Amino acid sequence: MSLPEISRSMLKNSLLLGLFAVVTVGLVAITQHVTAPRIVAAERAAQSQLLSQLLPAGSFDNLLHDSQVTLAADPLLGNLSSKTAYIARLNGQPTAVIVPVTAADGYSGAIHLLVAIKANGQLAGVRVLKHKETPGLGDKIELAKSVWIHGFDGKSLNDPSESGWAVKKDQGQFDQFAGATITPRAVVKAVHQALQYFDAHQRQLLGPSSTTVESSTVRNSNG
Ligand SMILES: Cc1cc2nc3c(=O)[nH]c(=O)nc-3n(C[C@H](O)[C@H](O)[C@H](O)COP(=O)(O)O)c2cc1C
Repeated sequence: MSLPEISRSMLKNSLLLGLFAVVTVGLVAITQHVTAPRIVAAERAAQSQLLSQLLPAGSFDNLLHDSQVTLAADPLLGNLSSKTAYIARLNGQPTAVIVPVTAADGYSGAIHLLVAIKANGQLAGVRVLKHKETPGLGDKIELAKSVWIHGFDGKSLNDPSESGWAVKKDQGQFDQFAGATITPRAVVKAVHQALQYFDAHQRQLLGPSSTTVESSTVRNSNG
């Protein structure tokens, strides 16, 4: 092959490669554009399902995902930035609030929870959203692994009393796991603090609101 022929071949291949890259990038962009709304809708549906699992059937008739309130960072919630809570309503009356809570002191770092508190101050339910605890030890906080998390159902700030809000090893009322006390201790503390937060802010959380999408901001416990 002569030199000009080699140059022509190289140019042709470069152009083909460039064209291939442009087409591929275009296809990826189109796919993203088409699937993005579906992904958002699927995430929303999954979140709504999780939220509704935390509340008794028939205790709300609103779209939980659309009834939001922004909570400023608060030590009692373990959040360093503002977070979204969800208000359950029945016939327009608030019946419960679902609060995101972070227990920073898990065995392997932060444990992210959702804590559902009924308007009367009783816990409707608690679920673990995300954690890095050890499989077979600390992961029994997950409902998929054990029913331990149901031990909070129906409890409130005064039931058990202050000293009862601890694992049994610390003279409290909640079971720990064999050889793994750190994880349940962190979760019990975080749920107790969520109830203290609710006690301090319930008028703001469950106050009257005529709009479906709420965006009031509940200020810090100290503020
Ligand atoms: C590899 C490894 C992983 C562990 N994972 C956990 C865990 O996820 N959660 C936990 O509470 N303790 C875990 N532990 C045990 C803790 O180090 C600690 O001993 C225990 O929580 C204390 O519980 P106890 O007071 O019942 O002995 C783990 C220990 C080891 C060696």
